[in-house]
Amino acid sequence: MKYILFACLMGVVFTVAAQEILVSPYIQPGNASNLLREQKVIIWHTDSIPATFNVEFAAGSLEDAKKVSTAKISVITLKLGGKTSILYRAVLTGLKFDTEYAYRVTKGNDIVLAASFVSRTKKKASHFAVFGDCGVGSPEQKAIAYQVAQQKPEFVLIPGDLVYNRGMVNEYQARFFPVYNGAETSLEKGASLMKSVPFYSLLGNHDIYSSNLDKIPGGLAYFYYNDLPENAPLTEHRLELTGKPEAVKAYNAATGGRFPGTANYSFEQGNVHITCIDANSYVNPLDQALVDWMRQDIAASTSDWKIVSFHEPGFNSSKTHDEFQLMRLLSPIMEELGVDMVLNGHVHNYQRTMPLRFAPKMNDKGNQFIISKEGSVDGTFTLDQKFDGATQTKANGIIYIVTGGGGAALYDTDLSNKPELWKREAKENWVPFTVKLVSDIHSFTMIDTEGKKLTLRQINLKGETIDEIHMTK
Ligand SMILES: [Fe+2]
Repeated sequence: MKYILFACLMGVVFTVAAQEILVSPYIQPGNASNLLREQKVIIWHTDSIPATFNVEFAAGSLEDAKKVSTAKISVITLKLGGKTSILYRAVLTGLKFDTEYAYRVTKGNDIVLAASFVSRTKKKASHFAVFGDCGVGSPEQKAIAYQVAQQKPEFVLIPGDLVYNRGMVNEYQARFFPVYNGAETSLEKGASLMKSVPFYSLLGNHDIYSSNLDKIPGGLAYFYYNDLPENAPLTEHRLELTGKPEAVKAYNAATGGRFPGTANYSFEQGNVHITCIDANSYVNPLDQALVDWMRQDIAASTSDWKIVSFHEPGFNSSKTHDEFQLMRLLSPIMEELGVDMVLNGHVHNYQRTMPLRFAPKMNDKGNQFIISKEGSVDGTFTLDQKFDGATQTKANGIIYIVTGGGGAALYDTDLSNKPELWKREAKENWVPFTVKLVSDIHSFTMIDTEGKKLTLRQINLKGETIDEIHMTK
C-alpha cells in the first residue's frame, strides 16, 4: 500500500510517496550447481523510489550468532513500457551445507522481511516437490501451493509454464508471487513458501511467448526473477530476443548474463542430480554442445539418482499436445547415461509410464531420424512390464512423468483412470506405455530419496495420494 506524506514547507506543498514493494524478498538457488559450493540469492522488486537496503544473514539465529554476514546487493533499474522499477539481488556466499540460516532484509530501521532457509544437504537423501503449468491465479493453483507447503519440501521444481499467458512481469506479480510468496499459507491464498524454499524452474512455451521486447516490454520476466545455476554451454538453436537494439541491450544488462544460458542447467541436492533443459520447439534435443555437456555432467555426478526435467513430454497418452514428441530423440542418450526418471509438464494432468526404452526410427539411409512436421517421432519401444513400484522396484528403463496439474485448467478430464480411452496409434508411435493417468483433479509430485531408494507420490489438491511408487537400485 502506498502512503502519501504531505509536507508543508515555506508555503510549498510537497507530495512524497513511500516506496512500494512489488515483490517481497524471496530466495533463489543462484549459481551453485554441484555440491562443492553453496550460495543463495535473495531477490525483491520495488517501484521507482530508490532506497538503501541491507541484508544480514547468519547460521542459526541473527541474535545469537558469533558472526553475522552482510550480503552484497546489486541494484537493477528496469524501464519497462515507460514505467521504472528497481530489482534488487543480494548474493549470500560462503554458505555451509546442511545448515539453517536466518536472514533479515532491512531498510533503515525497518525490517522488510526476517526469515530463514536451510542450505542444500550433502546427506544421501532428498525431499522435493514438482508441478508445472501453474500461474493462472486459480483456486486450484492456490490449493496446490498450500498442499505443497504441508509437505515441507527442500525445494520446488517447476517444469515450465510458470505464468500465463506470456511470462510477463505483471503476470508474475498477479498470478505467481501472490500464490507462492504471499504472507499467508491457506487453501484459499496459497503458501508463503519462496522466502524459505528455493524454486528451480525451467522454460515452458508460455514463458517464452513474450520474447519480442518491443511488443511486450515486460516480457521474458523468467530471467529477471529466476537466478539459477550457470553451468551449461550455449546451444546452437536457442531462444532469441527480438526488439530494438537498445531494448535488447537493456534486457541483457538487467538479466546479468543469465539470458539465455540458464535455459539449461543442472544441480544437485543430497543424492539427486537433476538436469533441466529447454525443450521448446526451436530446440534441437541432439544439439552437440548440449549432448556433450550432458554426457560429461551426468557422468561426473556421483548422485544415486539421476533425473532430467523439461517442459514438453516425449511420451504422452492424453489427447492434447500428443503430436509434439521431439524430446524422444534424447531417450537413447538418457538411457545410456543411466537416467532414472524424466519430469515433464505441458500436458495439464498427471501421467506415469512404465520404465521404457525407446529407439527412434531412422530413414532408409540410416543417417537421419524421421520427424513429422508436427514433431512426431516413430520408433521401437521396449517396456519393462514387470516393474510395479511395490513388489518389483528395480526399473529397466526410464520412467516418464507428466506433472502438469499445478493450477491451469486440466486437459482431457474424461481420460482419467480409463486406459481403454488413452491414445491409440500405430505401434511405431504409441504403445500402452502409460500405467497411470489422472486428469480430473489437480495434483503435484513429491519425490523422496534415501540412499538407493526413491519414492514418488502424486498428491491432489485435497492432500490425498493418488499414485505412489517405490524404486530401488
Ligand atoms: Fe506448456
